[in-house]
Amino acid sequence: MNLAVEVAGIRFKNPLIAASGTFGYGVEYEGVLDLSVLGGIVSKGLYMEARDGAPTPRIVETPSGLLNAIGLQGVGVRAFVRDVLPRLAKHEVALLVNVCGDSVEEYAEVSRVCDGAPGIAGLEVNISCPNVKKGGMAFGGDPRLTHEVVAAVRKATRLPVIPKLSPNVGDITVFARAAEEAGADALSCINTLLGLAIDVEARRPRLGFGTGGLSGPAIRPVAVRMAWQAARAVRIPVIGIGGIASASDALEFLIAGCRAVQIGTANFVDPGIYERVLLDLRAWLERHGEDDVNSVVGTLEYPGLPRPCDSGGCA
Ligand SMILES: Cc1cc2nc3c(=O)[nH]c(=O)nc-3n(C[C@H](O)[C@H](O)[C@H](O)COP(=O)(O)O)c2cc1C
Repeated sequence: MNLAVEVAGIRFKNPLIAASGTFGYGVEYEGVLDLSVLGGIVSKGLYMEARDGAPTPRIVETPSGLLNAIGLQGVGVRAFVRDVLPRLAKHEVALLVNVCGDSVEEYAEVSRVCDGAPGIAGLEVNISCPNVKKGGMAFGGDPRLTHEVVAAVRKATRLPVIPKLSPNVGDITVFARAAEEAGADALSCINTLLGLAIDVEARRPRLGFGTGGLSGPAIRPVAVRMAWQAARAVRIPVIGIGGIASASDALEFLIAGCRAVQIGTANFVDPGIYERVLLDLRAWLERHGEDDVNSVVGTLEYPGLPRPCDSGGCA
């Protein structure tokens, strides 16, 4: 049975990728699971310099979800390349770097540093973080800025460029098309949904930053809908993200037209999630007489609408 997928010219041995910010830089999990089980890993978001992130508390549990405002704490891209990359080299897993910036120039600069570094398969461009005062979602909330950032990153690197889109917009297809037009090789859909949890005794936000990004099973139907819309709108492949905690959840995204998926919050509950989902995905494919996971992509029967593949959307 073939579980390998290709996205943006990157070969993933299976379609399961650890989502940015929920898997550290990968090395933190070395003693917890065999990293080569994964199809890929996306690093925590990286700027040029190290950052302290947002004030605590940074994480709050909500019904079927998690609200976080980490604020993109990190070591900075040069320290990552120097100290972390060599340790990841021994693992057979495709590595994507989650690229951040306070300005268009910084996105390009971080990408340039990654371009020269060995062992990076591609760049996921984070234009959708809701938890920073500058940049982040601002770039992903304006189609002109989305175009500008993606075009700048495209110019700065030969690595595959995968913008990560925000769900905090009215029509995601506008942003998907802007990114594609600017030279993106694939899209990641979606980042977290902007939320607010209130401590009613203190009458204050429960997170130190105030608002936060909602993730986990609570957002899955929104994520599937948006990934499906994006996949129909562009010719480049889409990686689906949002609330995946089982093979059936992952299959929703694949059937909706995504080539691969990322798992985030569920990994906090059970780091063995990837092995379990992979096993169950294999079983589902067998049960459905499929010998290639790619043949499931974009097979949604949606009354009254052609499949995305028929209209060129999952090329
Ligand atoms: C604690 C936490 C930190 C995150 N950090 C990042 C990040 O640095 N960059 C990014 O693009 N997304 C980040 N995300 C968003 C996830 O990668 C993912 O898009 C989102 O959580 C939805 O997937 P999930 O429901 O499977 O968690 C973070 C999410 C969480 C929960």
